[in-house]
Amino acid sequence: MAVRKICVFPGDGIGKEVMREALAVLKELEGLSDRCRFETEEELVGGAAIDEHKVPLTDRGLSLARSSDAILLGAVGGPKWDDLPFEVRPERGLLALRRELDMYANLRPAKVFAPLIDASPLRREIVEGIDLMVIRELTGGLYFGKPRGIQMIDGVETGINTEVYTRPEIERVARVGFDMARKKGGRLTSVDKSNVLESSVLWRRVVTGIGAKEYPDVPLSHILVDNCAMQLVRNPRQFDVMVMSNLFGDILTDEASMITGSIGMLPSASLGGKVAMYEPIHGTAPDIEGKGIANPLAMILSAGMMLKYSFDMLREAAWIEGAVEQVLADGYRTADIWREGGGTKVGTVEMGERVREAVRKISQKG
Ligand code: IPM
Ligand code: MG
Repeated sequence: MAVRKICVFPGDGIGKEVMREALAVLKELEGLSDRCRFETEEELVGGAAIDEHKVPLTDRGLSLARSSDAILLGAVGGPKWDDLPFEVRPERGLLALRRELDMYANLRPAKVFAPLIDASPLRREIVEGIDLMVIRELTGGLYFGKPRGIQMIDGVETGINTEVYTRPEIERVARVGFDMARKKGGRLTSVDKSNVLESSVLWRRVVTGIGAKEYPDVPLSHILVDNCAMQLVRNPRQFDVMVMSNLFGDILTDEASMITGSIGMLPSASLGGKVAMYEPIHGTAPDIEGKGIANPLAMILSAGMMLKYSFDMLREAAWIEGAVEQVLADGYRTADIWREGGGTKVGTVEMGERVREAVRKISQKG
């Protein structure tokens, strides 16, 4: 079986801690499935790269990412680098990777694992069985639009960002949404702010057009982003597959993560380019860095998404997801999902061990 080359960017803070556990799960899989042969190479990104090389992403890092079969990334950023000039902040490294490799479709599944029902701040009947897929446009919009910057205009200091979306940019991400909805036999909801923003007026027009022309079988609806933020906590069950701009997706997926109980549970896949990247949606959590209590499940599930979307190893990906389900059913909880009287509190490393153990057991059942 072909060896898969994985470029590994642990990044900063708890990124490094959760990455270790994801890599250990992949190592475990090599012993369990003869399809799994992984070669990993690590590179610095974010603050770690700044400390070492003065830039958040080196040319070497970028070209390693480009030449690999898939990329795993932990998280970037932290208070240590907060005062740096904008262009060399840790986040720029992550944004450069997304943009340079043209990973325009960011899949963020928000799935409620049954044993975690009571970890959500929302009532059981609201979150039970929720299985959402948010597709966030990742290489355009307000994050990258020009003009941008902080300038003096008529003697007044002015901060400027611009929301730009072209028809082809909207079309390609809309197709990812429609394809996903079609595969799930579900519905697509497109989120915008077309009552105020021209970029959203075009967004809605283009999504509607693609739907009518190429996906007449997929039910499509549109919702304004402010209403959507409200509906996500009021009645998330009305949503299935959702597609939205870069900024709206950033915001609404943090919100959606709380349906599942913790932001420490949400993985993501960034697709569209030649190489795809997999990262948890959470950040570096400076407040718990080095304490060994971070939840590694989002990172481990991200590695699972890599097996599925980059390597077509559907069976092994299902083992990982099944193992996560199992450890939660067995009552193991990291601090973020633990409740008084509700299960055994474990740290990052033990949670990783439990997942590996569960993967072993599931794989033996075939
Ligand atoms: C995310 C993060 C990033 C983003 C930051 C770290 C640049 O919040 O992946 O959601 O805004 O996209
Ligand atoms: Mg975010």
